Amino acid sequence: MALQLGDDAPDFTAESTDGPIKFHEYLGSSWGVLFSHPKDFTPVCTTELGRVAALKPEFDKRNVKVVGLSVDSLDSHKGWVGDIKETQGHALNFPLVADHDKKVANLYGMIHPNASDTFTVRSVFVIGPDKKIKLTLTYPASTGRNFDEVLRVIDSLQLTAKHKVATPSDWKQGGDVIIVPSLNDADAKGLFPDGWKTVKPYLRLVPQPKS
Ligand code: BEZ
Repeated sequence: MALQLGDDAPDFTAESTDGPIKFHEYLGSSWGVLFSHPKDFTPVCTTELGRVAALKPEFDKRNVKVVGLSVDSLDSHKGWVGDIKETQGHALNFPLVADHDKKVANLYGMIHPNASDTFTVRSVFVIGPDKKIKLTLTYPASTGRNFDEVLRVIDSLQLTAKHKVATPSDWKQGGDVIIVPSLNDADAKGLFPDGWKTVKPYLRLVPQPKS
C-alpha cells in the first residue's frame, strides 16, 4: 500500500553525490524533504534541481534537510551535476541519491506503473523530526514542481505542530490563522488571550502566533 500521512518514513542506505547516506541518521533531528526525479539529463528535472539548490538557504532556515533521488547511477549523476550548475546558475548543494536498483523508489512507491514502469514520478515526501510522513505530493514527469509551495507547506506544518491552529487556503507567513475546531472557546481564551474574530462558530481567525 502507498505510504500515507502519519506513516513511518522508511529508512534506507544508498549512494549519493555527497557519499553514502543513511537516511534517518542523515536527517537527525531535522525535518526532511525527499523528492524523486524521473531521469538524469532531462530538462524539467534539471530546472527543478537548480531551483532547489537556489532555495537551499530557505530550507536551512527552517531546519529542513533536502535529499533528491533519481534512478540512475552515481556516475551518471556526477556528469549531470555539471549541467545543472552550468544551465541553472546554482551548483547542487544537497545529496542526490543514485537509486539505480530502484530500492528506495520501490520503498517509497515512487514508481507508478501506469504512468511509467521504468521512471519514477515526481514524488515529494516531507518528513517530520519524528520520522513520520507529514506530506506527500505526486506530480507527473511533464510538470515541474513549485518548491515555493513546498516551503509554504513546511511553514504551515511547523506552525501547526506547535500551536493549536490550522492555516487557511493560500496562507503565507504572517497571515491570519484558524483556531482548530477541537478547541472550545473557553480553552481558546487561555491560548489566545487577545481574542479572535468569529466568522462562524467553527471559523475563528487569529493573528499568526509568534514563534
Ligand atoms: C524531464 O525531466 O524533462 C522529463 C523527464 C521524463 C519525462 C518527461 C520529462
